[in-house]
Amino acid sequence: MAGTWLLDISVRFPTFDTVFPVNSLETRLPMASGYTSVNHPLHFSRPPTAPLQPPTAHNTPTPTPFHRKPGVCLTTSKQNAFHRKPGVSPMDAGDDLFTREDPIFTNKELLEISHLPGEGRIVGRDDEIADLATAVNPAIFGQSPSNVLIYGKTGTGKSLCAKYVSQRLVNTAGEEGVNATFAYVDCAQDTTETQAVQTIAEGVNDPEHTGINVPDKGLSTSTYYKRLWRILDQRYDVVLIILDEIDKLDDDAILMQLSRAGEAGKITDCKLGVIGISNKIQYKDRMDERVKSSLCEREFVFPPYDADQLRAIMQARSDAFHDDVLEPSTIPRAAALAAREHGDARKAIDILRYAGEIAQANGEPTVREEFVTQARERAETDRFRELIRGSTPHSRYVLQALALLSLSNGRQDGFRTSRVYEIYENICRQEGSDSLSLRRVRDLLKEHAFLDIIEQSKHSGGSAEGSYTKHQLLEDPAVVKEVLTEGSDR
Ligand SMILES: Nc1ncnc2c1ncn2[C@@H]1O[C@H](COP(=O)(O)OP(=O)(O)OP(=O)(O)O)[C@@H](O)[C@H]1O
Ligand SMILES: [Mg+2]
Repeated sequence: MAGTWLLDISVRFPTFDTVFPVNSLETRLPMASGYTSVNHPLHFSRPPTAPLQPPTAHNTPTPTPFHRKPGVCLTTSKQNAFHRKPGVSPMDAGDDLFTREDPIFTNKELLEISHLPGEGRIVGRDDEIADLATAVNPAIFGQSPSNVLIYGKTGTGKSLCAKYVSQRLVNTAGEEGVNATFAYVDCAQDTTETQAVQTIAEGVNDPEHTGINVPDKGLSTSTYYKRLWRILDQRYDVVLIILDEIDKLDDDAILMQLSRAGEAGKITDCKLGVIGISNKIQYKDRMDERVKSSLCEREFVFPPYDADQLRAIMQARSDAFHDDVLEPSTIPRAAALAAREHGDARKAIDILRYAGEIAQANGEPTVREEFVTQARERAETDRFRELIRGSTPHSRYVLQALALLSLSNGRQDGFRTSRVYEIYENICRQEGSDSLSLRRVRDLLKEHAFLDIIEQSKHSGGSAEGSYTKHQLLEDPAVVKEVLTEGSDR
């Protein structure tokens, strides 16, 4: 029986390869917010005596020049094959083995995801930036900023805007004579309380001034806290702590400590504000009530970008390329693709970068629209990998179950929760792990739906069956398979 066979043999990923025709699924995401202008004046309100300063040098974009490390830029480009001027030896004219000019990119860093764009390059987030600024505004007077929780789907600019506003706040506070800073923690990296507090303490410390040492490891959690509190009181009036991907923390312990540090008397001279960021809308439901009440003073949801916004975001970075290298249809095409699917700026920028790399690898002088299609596939795999980075094994098992169902049954209108749960339980057995309750698995499915990895639809089975939910992978099951098997290949 096909079903039994599926359950028996296909719970481990390598068995995917036995398999069935895969229909790639169309993904979609039509919703998007209103589009606002490219520039966004950001006014922190100040005491009446202090006039508003124009943006400082810190706020203006500082394009990083393209620094080529000598001897490093060897590419596979056909164009870059060994060209030597006749009659000129390498010793005379320099060694032509290596490409000295990148024919496509002039400043590729602008397309790196870690690049923090400056004023004028952040598009369509005026309202969100203004809201965030209002929430943390008291910090520039040395008062407690509001604690903030930012939600939104992946690539909607949450991390970017949180860092951007924090940096500008630090600058403005400095102009007001308030000593402020911010610390950034990637909680997918620092999942334990100890790792997170160590990262914060190290980030705000300057051992030359404080005389305090914050080693990478080796101290107890409480010792790290003690050092953190001492550093804060010694050095700062106000500190913002950005806890990015906050849902990846093992527990709420650090949130409790940070949100109560002042009232518990751990710090006396320094005010703390926490900006929590998550792409899991249900994260708050899991929070301890006390933490929730102090951490969620302000909440903001960042909507996905529409095609116009994505186009403007990419256009603002087109100086990553040499003049005339980008064909006119390239950016509109990439924007349309990225907007139709997820409204994700990271994916849009990735598509542009990969399209450039494809041109480079093929020795093409321009980035053509057709490269965008190839680049999209790679960006999609990267995006999914990033989406499930740091997710729990059970969250992955649930996806694995859906991917198995999709691959073995072809294109359907989805699978009922009971069916997904059945396969999930088999996967758990195979992995030697206790399965979670049906209720928890429903929650995991909801989280995947929020991230647009799957789509859920409600159905009515009439009086006999009642209503039920069906789940459908929106990601291409082959991409899901590829990414989920990466670990097992190693
Ligand atoms: N409004 C924007 N203008 C310019 N660049 C943007 C904008 N929004 C996002 N980006 C760029 O897109 C990429 C993704 O943005 P960001 O990391 O802030 O997304 P995110 O909402 O934090 O996503 P995730 O939930 O996956 O962490 C970054 O490189 C960022 O610089
Ligand atoms: Mg982020």
